[in-house]
Amino acid sequence: MSVGRVLWASGPVLRARTTGSFQMREAVYVGSQSLLGEVVSINGEEIVAQVYEDATGLRPGEEIRGSGAPLGIRVGPGLLGNIFDGLLRPLSGCRPQYVEPGAGGGAACRFDFTPLVKRGEALGGGAVFGRVTPAQGRAQDCLVPPHVAGEVVDIADAGNHGEDAIVCRIRSAGGAVQEVAMGHFWPVRVPRPAAERLPSDEPLVTGQRILDCLFPVVLGGKAAIPGGFGTGKTVLLEALAKSCNADVIVYLGCGERGNEMAGVLEEFPKLTDPRTGRPLMERTVIIANTSNMPVAAREASIYSAVTVAEYFRDQGLHVALMADSTSRWAEALREVSGRLGELPGEGGYPAYLSSRLADFYERAARVRTLNGRTGSVTLLSSISPPSGDFSEPVTSHSKRYVRCFWALDIKRAQARFYPAIHPLQSYSEDAGELADWWVKAFGSVPAGAVAGRPANEWLELRRGFLTLLDEQVRLERMARIVGKDALPPRQQLALFCAEIVNEAFLRQSAFSDVDWYASPRRQAAMMRLIGRFIALAEQALAQGAPLERIAALGFLRPLQRMGEEIGEDRLGEFDVLAQRMEREFRGLSTEAGDVR
Ligand SMILES: Nc1ncnc2c1ncn2[C@@H]1O[C@H](COP(=O)(O)OP(=O)(O)O)[C@@H](O)[C@H]1O
Ligand SMILES: [Mg+2]
Repeated sequence: MSVGRVLWASGPVLRARTTGSFQMREAVYVGSQSLLGEVVSINGEEIVAQVYEDATGLRPGEEIRGSGAPLGIRVGPGLLGNIFDGLLRPLSGCRPQYVEPGAGGGAACRFDFTPLVKRGEALGGGAVFGRVTPAQGRAQDCLVPPHVAGEVVDIADAGNHGEDAIVCRIRSAGGAVQEVAMGHFWPVRVPRPAAERLPSDEPLVTGQRILDCLFPVVLGGKAAIPGGFGTGKTVLLEALAKSCNADVIVYLGCGERGNEMAGVLEEFPKLTDPRTGRPLMERTVIIANTSNMPVAAREASIYSAVTVAEYFRDQGLHVALMADSTSRWAEALREVSGRLGELPGEGGYPAYLSSRLADFYERAARVRTLNGRTGSVTLLSSISPPSGDFSEPVTSHSKRYVRCFWALDIKRAQARFYPAIHPLQSYSEDAGELADWWVKAFGSVPAGAVAGRPANEWLELRRGFLTLLDEQVRLERMARIVGKDALPPRQQLALFCAEIVNEAFLRQSAFSDVDWYASPRRQAAMMRLIGRFIALAEQALAQGAPLERIAALGFLRPLQRMGEEIGEDRLGEFDVLAQRMEREFRGLSTEAGDVR
């Protein structure tokens, strides 16, 4: 075993003189408390390590021991439904509530195991060899570790076993026998292998209209959510964790203040999934690394979280990882880099910030797994740019690697317009991939009075809304100069319609009992209704109806409130509203005819 002696320590960084060979990125144990750390640089007999635990009290001369393995975590059936720290040591469940410095993984939980293979069977890496049925929650597959393959020489009978008990023995072609437990070790910085990366043409349905309809993300996609303080990043990520259609949610609270995380920690265990009626925690893993926890562990927590996500992906599941926030993670990187004496780059961040972000986002994917299934990891990460400035390094580098950018706008938030996603600063490069998927959602909604529907209603409506919102900004600027009343009626109408799109469609409270979630069918119905309104209003104006008359039509009030008032179980009412709208516009044109 390689050992050394601490020479120098500064915060979470220490230097040690060693005997024996340490490796880069090797996990190490430091001092009498066995604090967990990682080797970050080697120079002859001297190594530099960062320590993931509170290193107060560490002295020169204390021992540092190599573990012989890179920093890693144990992935297995004990993850779902539980809360962990950044190094995946449990903060809940059947293990201790608080992690003492130097504590390992804690006592393993026990699970009911059912073997799914027989002795003599050949198994490849990542194959399913058994199933676990926890007391509560979903059944989970037990996977052969990705780099283990061979013939099953021994498999446990059905029964209750500890998470770490050897339940399967596999003899490789070379004759070596590998022992396999229900869970296995995986180095967090190494992406888990998959058979193949697949393109994605299915959305992560978020239930938020502005996201699903205007800035959708595919399963296996990646989105960044930048926003200044108080613009709604945490509320949005929590809303998505509750409502999105992923099979498994990994929620990483990374460096935010403890009281923000407390919301998640207290609220989540009490929530039920409205679609299944089961506790939401059953599909959730929470990783909490708040600002009061050691800073270096925050740097590792993002890798722990994405490794957990990949582990569920490898079971053929769709996983969404919410990370709040990558700025705090980058700050940890900066702090440790500073202590290492590295040359600071832009904004004081180390030069490798960009490549670290790239490595992280690269792990988002829809894949064919080693066992032939399809699974995905979708990454959604918030960014808290200092003073809301999106040109700062973390935001600008993240932008290079994500395909969706959901920019939270301080002005919208101040006006209490939620979600405060800015429709012009935000974008999605995934929309084209999803056009066909939306044909189904639109097809399932009663067609209403819509005549001459375009080939792809969703794409057309989306384009129409975005153009209108773009026009709104231009016209508002003009109106500020010349006065709104000086604008030609067509432009005044455009402003009015843009307001309807904002108020009746994009505004959606995460705290509403009815509107916290909108199914694709409901979104399609609302989108179509507003699209039809815009067409009818333009037509009426062209035929001579004054804007004041259009703006006074009776259906407009229920139209603006439809998100709050027409719930998922009353979708037929959109049709009633559509008919009323057609009727009132017809009345308007008869009236206009009379006047003429
Ligand atoms: N989608 C939303 N619906 C309703 N209220 C919201 C929404 N998003 C944010 N808010 C309000 O804004 C406040 C601040 O949001 P929060 O997510 O904590 O901001 P951030 O994480 O960006 O600092 C919340 O406490 C809530 O009152
Ligand atoms: Mg927050």
